[in-house]
Amino acid sequence: MKKWYAVIGDPISQSMSPNMHDEWFKDNNMNASYSPHHIYPEHLGEAVESLKLLGCSGWNVTVPHKSAIIPFLDDIDESAEVMNAVNTVEVLPDGSLRGSNTDGAGFVQSLEEMFGQQCLEKKVLVIGAGGAARGICYGLQDKGYGPIYIANRTIEKAQQLAEDLPNAKALTITKAENILEDFGLIIQTTSVGMNYATTGMPLNPSKVLAGTVVADIIYNPLETEFLKAARENGAQTMNGVGMFVHQGALAFEKWTGIQPNTASMIEKITEKLGG
Ligand code: ATR
Repeated sequence: MKKWYAVIGDPISQSMSPNMHDEWFKDNNMNASYSPHHIYPEHLGEAVESLKLLGCSGWNVTVPHKSAIIPFLDDIDESAEVMNAVNTVEVLPDGSLRGSNTDGAGFVQSLEEMFGQQCLEKKVLVIGAGGAARGICYGLQDKGYGPIYIANRTIEKAQQLAEDLPNAKALTITKAENILEDFGLIIQTTSVGMNYATTGMPLNPSKVLAGTVVADIIYNPLETEFLKAARENGAQTMNGVGMFVHQGALAFEKWTGIQPNTASMIEKITEKLGG
């Protein structure tokens, strides 16, 4: 019987997940499909029940439901618990629902695919302290990266995130800008520069040392103003396409047991976004 998978969010029309997963089903000759569903926050519980009743085999969860879905699930794994957010739901053989979060591990996989493990043991600066930053900090610490420094416009949020992690410290944006040369890996996780909507940079990368690895989790545009400035200062840069593809690949693997082809997907999405 044909299996079906889904992604739920509000909004959802911009999601590139359906094309990505459908292509992977095709690559692997699987009789399965993946569909986007626009679910308003007030309907989340009914949506989860409906997905279950209609036999959905697993789904992704995106903004703004990543934390709100947790009470509707039977179980969440450590990644989701630490991040207090779920991006992947598996329907287990007994029909129960298990949530996990592949965002942090997806980021680390894309980093290592591009740069190997050269950033291990380097000081890490994470810019931003929202949900995305939390996932990435967890993923990095899980793989032995750090120490991690977190800089955020609202310092209290950076302090809270640093407290929740075993080996992290909070910094103001100004302080981070002044000691930028101390960091071997810098990761931009805020929404500044996304979809050309918020222009500007969350932090001035003019003091970044040549050769430093600088990542931005934004993939539309492929190169934010921040990433461009870092590259022009000699940094080795990485945009968010790899993280997007790897978080999806990890979900795909949880559902099907198959590791899909990430390298060709990164190329295709980059091309689609004008790269
Ligand atoms: P996400 O799940 O994508 O991380 P979020 O939890 O809403 O989204 O977090 C957004 C992040 O972008 C936060 O770090 C936020 O900073 P504040 O905590 O100070 O709000 C950051 N951010 C959003 N707009 C920003 C802006 N114009 N300048 C600087 N930081 C911004």
